[in-house]
Amino acid sequence: MAEKSFKYVIVGGGVSAGYAAREFAKQGVNPGELAIISKEAVAPYERPALSKAYLFPESPARLPGFHVCVGSGGERLLPEWYKQNGIELILSTEIVKADLAGKTLVSAAGETFKYEILIIATGSTVIKLTDFGVQGADAKNIFYLREIDDADKLVEAIKAKKNGTAVIVGGGYIGLELGAALRINNLDVSMVYPEPWCMPRLFTSGIAAFYEGYYANKGIKIIKGTVATGFSTNAHGEVTEVKLKDGRVLEADIVVVGVGGRPLTTLFKGQVEEEKGGIKTDAFFKTSVADVYAVGDVATFPLKLYNENRRVEHVDHSRKSAEQAVKAIKASEEGKSVEEYDYLPYFYSRSFDLAWQFYGDNVGDTVLFGDNNPESPKPKFGSYWIKDGKVVGAFLEGGNPEENKAIANVARVQPPVESLDLLKNEGLAFASKI
Ligand code: FDA
Ligand code: NAD
Repeated sequence: MAEKSFKYVIVGGGVSAGYAAREFAKQGVNPGELAIISKEAVAPYERPALSKAYLFPESPARLPGFHVCVGSGGERLLPEWYKQNGIELILSTEIVKADLAGKTLVSAAGETFKYEILIIATGSTVIKLTDFGVQGADAKNIFYLREIDDADKLVEAIKAKKNGTAVIVGGGYIGLELGAALRINNLDVSMVYPEPWCMPRLFTSGIAAFYEGYYANKGIKIIKGTVATGFSTNAHGEVTEVKLKDGRVLEADIVVVGVGGRPLTTLFKGQVEEEKGGIKTDAFFKTSVADVYAVGDVATFPLKLYNENRRVEHVDHSRKSAEQAVKAIKASEEGKSVEEYDYLPYFYSRSFDLAWQFYGDNVGDTVLFGDNNPESPKPKFGSYWIKDGKVVGAFLEGGNPEENKAIANVARVQPPVESLDLLKNEGLAFASKI
């Protein structure tokens, strides 16, 4: 079988890989030095589009429209761009074996790839209901969403089950974005999740109440405090019903499951130090193994602002960590160094006409401010998180670019707060004056 050698190999062809490639090109890379090896059949693209504009019934986003780096306002890297820059895109190629000591990767088809420097950018995979043995969870028309192939299957099903019934299992990011997308496609949507409110990883009960009210007004039925325990199927093996733990049974032509992700570290188990479920790195995304870097969803890195190692499963960090790793690689080749990664966590989501942003850390006391009536024509509200007398996190729904910048700034500066009541009364004005 063929063996190929490269100076730099990026394993994984998602968001991080694309932004890393752009940074390599900026810093200067010779033709044939860099390869991206991806399981997916297409060049790196902005994954967030898959749960949003990709599913629109009218003028949906399609490739090549959302290849990286359009998501952060940059130029699109089309497949030709990689060619022009002498970067080899090795697509539809899954790496099944990694030997970090031997600096070798092996694909499912048996090809061998040698590298001098490796960047691990394998991202996350979905947790499946079959992983915990839910009865009937392998039925047809039960979907997960991670890659473009998954999105294409879902789009087909939406067409085939026109005006049908959909059940969303999970009340996190996928649950909320897909609930909206399927409703926009005129399906009758129910959402089921075990927690007392949606997005408990980030939302306070006050924030969640707004979204749950807004979704209910759009005709989405929300069922909380229970889980799916089984599925019924028809003679074709297609899902027809979702059975809930509390005894209720919901009709379903389509089921979308979003019950969390898991970083794809299995290839490297036992070969590299791990922490908090990810591959441990330093502030330059260097792992415990020489010449091996890890970026994006798989990296557990020092979050300097909070003096703690963390893993972040969001697109802004995947872009920035990739750029940081490449800058560090190039600098060290010249005997130079770069500044430590100093990341301010930034998460966002969009659904229906809504758009929120969050910056910082969601710990400590919370203060809700603004107009969070789901029936308002233009709701605008937010929340601050306060720890040790300082604002450490800020959330804003419906903000304009300037206001979003203000909440980012407040989370970075961490100004002291005299009283929570004062903060509540001032609301967004508090952030705007910092
Ligand atoms: P990413 O998952 O992008 O890429 C990993 C790549 O590695 C994939 O191409 C995969 O096929 C490949 N791969 C894995 N194992 C391999 C192997 N063994 N061999 C070869 N290739 C392999 N975030 C946010 O902040 N705002 C948002 O709105 C959204 N929206 C969103 C929607 C959807 C549907 C998803 C799934 C995720 C989001 N996210 C998000 C999260 C964000 O997309 C995510 O954090 C980044 O894509 C992570 O980038 P990575 O490069 O680490 O992984
Ligand atoms: P998540 O962690 O956001 O949410 C998982 C949810 O699953 C929990 O909130 C809970 O409600 C639910 N849950 C857990 N077990 C359940 C069960 N047995 N039955 C029913 N519900 C159950 O994960 P996700 O929404 O699946 O997203 C997957 C990945 O994609 C994450 O990495 C996420 O960051 C990423 N993503 C991000 C965005 C964004 O940032 N806007 C959008 C989409 C996806």
